[in-house]
Amino acid sequence: MRIEGSVALVTGANRGLGQVYARELVRRGAARVYGAARDAARVTEPGVTPVTLDITDAGRVAQVAGECGDVSLLVNNAGVLKYSTFTEAPSLDAARQEMETNYFGTLSMCRAFAPVLGRNGGGAIVNMLSVTSFYTNPLDGSYGASKAAAWSMTNGVRVELHHQGTLVVAVHASFIDTEMAALVSGPKDSPESVVGQALDAVAAGQIEVLADERTRFVKASLARDHELIYPPVQKFWDDAIAARP
Ligand SMILES: NC(=O)c1ccc[n+]([C@@H]2O[C@H](COP(=O)([O-])OP(=O)(O)OC[C@H]3O[C@@H](n4cnc5c(N)ncnc54)[C@H](OP(=O)(O)O)[C@@H]3O)[C@@H](O)[C@H]2O)c1
Repeated sequence: MRIEGSVALVTGANRGLGQVYARELVRRGAARVYGAARDAARVTEPGVTPVTLDITDAGRVAQVAGECGDVSLLVNNAGVLKYSTFTEAPSLDAARQEMETNYFGTLSMCRAFAPVLGRNGGGAIVNMLSVTSFYTNPLDGSYGASKAAAWSMTNGVRVELHHQGTLVVAVHASFIDTEMAALVSGPKDSPESVVGQALDAVAAGQIEVLADERTRFVKASLARDHELIYPPVQKFWDDAIAARP
């Protein structure tokens, strides 16, 4: 799909990766870029049209799909990470918020915009997923579950919208250098690298982006996950438990 001349809508466009998506879409010549955010006043990127949108508000999602009927490229970027374990989190609140946003919110956007994209010639959807779509780490256990659900949904939406010519791109990445990963030390992808690869994939008609070495390793190791992926995760977690006072 051609990015130049397209009309894009990016969720979570006020900061982090979403702001970089919006900036790069303008730079690549999109005819219009809607920057959706819970607080539209915080969408400050030049050339971007602010839109108020909380993706967990199904009524507002439907309204925005009506108001932005010219969209041909939907970037489902908005997401939350609560750093919540499965068994020790004090309640289900974090897990529910991650599922409501990362899975149901993204699903709600895909459903609302599917007919819009169909009317506009097919277009494309980019879903921001994660390396944790492929495996579980207790550090961000319930977040991984929500991204695994969103990965499954992304594959299904691709199959369902093939008939109308909609390209559905899954973008998986390890840690990216934004506020979401501020607590994490160690290597991080730059937002510009992830966004560049995602938009190159849209332009090339490619359905999956594995943005870094770690993500490529994990995806390639899935058939032997209990041999290759989980032993170091288990050791990390057992050591962390043993080091507790
Ligand atoms: N950073 C990483 O390490 C990493 C790695 C892999 C994948 N990802 C994924 O990449 C995407 C972007 O993450 P990021 O790194 O840019 O995170 P971020 O810096 O925390 O930004 C998250 C964005 O999502 C928005 N958002 C959250 N809940 C929303 C809702 N209900 N409705 C609308 N907007 C909402 C936030 O808006 P507010 O400002 O209103 O909170 C913010 O704009 C997410 O889907 C994330 O899961 C991130």
